[in-house]
Amino acid sequence: MMEFNKEFKERTAWAEKVVKEFLPEETTKQKLVMEAMNYSVNAGGKRLRPLLMCETVKMFGGDTENVKPFMAAIEYIHTYSLVHDDLPAMDNDDYRRGRKTTHKEYGEGMGVLAGDALLNYAFETAIDGVLKSDNPARAAAALSVIAHKAGIYGMIGGQTVDIMSEGKPQTKDSLDYINELKTGALIEASMMAGAILAGATQSEVDVIEKIASNIGLAFQIKDDILDVTGDEEEIGKPVHSDEKNNKSTYVNIMGIDEAAKEVKRLSTEAEECLKSLGKEDEFLLMLIDWLTSRKK
Ligand code: IPE
Ligand code: IPE
Ligand code: MG
Ligand code: MG
Ligand code: MG
Repeated sequence: MMEFNKEFKERTAWAEKVVKEFLPEETTKQKLVMEAMNYSVNAGGKRLRPLLMCETVKMFGGDTENVKPFMAAIEYIHTYSLVHDDLPAMDNDDYRRGRKTTHKEYGEGMGVLAGDALLNYAFETAIDGVLKSDNPARAAAALSVIAHKAGIYGMIGGQTVDIMSEGKPQTKDSLDYINELKTGALIEASMMAGAILAGATQSEVDVIEKIASNIGLAFQIKDDILDVTGDEEEIGKPVHSDEKNNKSTYVNIMGIDEAAKEVKRLSTEAEECLKSLGKEDEFLLMLIDWLTSRKK
């Protein structure tokens, strides 16, 4: 059996290296915004989205060179979503990835701009990837999925409903709607883009979307659990942020134990679905399992 911890460390380190490779140099009169972008990306994070993208490429036998700009792009979009999520106008949090949030370090104006800049820079990076790709049609199709999943029908849509729902009790269905979009969409984009880049068929991409949707939903429920039970030092961000913002979460509608069961159920379903593809990928299966028990 594969030694998961060792593989996880090595593969994450590679994703980390790729993400850093495309970051802008800090030059010119406007270098402050570049510093703020690099500050938020270099703070770390699990690099789960680029890792999932790259592993999906490998599962479908694709090459790990063409995927690099897309791995960087998805992490920049994710990081921008966090920089903006932490702003006083949203969750108002002071601590992220083990350091002060970007707006705390650079001021609110620069927090807004660093987020904008990361989003735009993600597309600059990815479109260069399309132009350099051996297969520009596939690369453009992958970029199209990333663009849509990040937008109003995806992550931004979910963040919108999340903000609109503050202070209002939610049902399980309404929480699922929020979580599938705010968190599920970028995880779907990561895995779908990987599959598309590697030349998966449309029906395979559809299965990947379903797997990623389950992983994403489970990931957000686990995030909500860690917001209550997590260790601030370990998660690198404040606990009880949801309570402070009067957010309804799985934890407060069904309790921690039931929420944890839901994480397990969704993840098991994702694993079954992955097996149905007939490309058994030991690492991905173990990664899905690890996500259910993660402490950060
Ligand atoms: C945090 O995402 C926000 C959610 C979508 C739950 P991650 O838990 O992946 O954050 P990093 O990238 O590791 O910092
Ligand atoms: C935000 O969810 C998900 C995003 C799209 C940024 P949370 O607000 O729960 O994320 P954390 O807990 O601040 O990382
Ligand atoms: Mg939030
Ligand atoms: Mg938040
Ligand atoms: Mg949270």
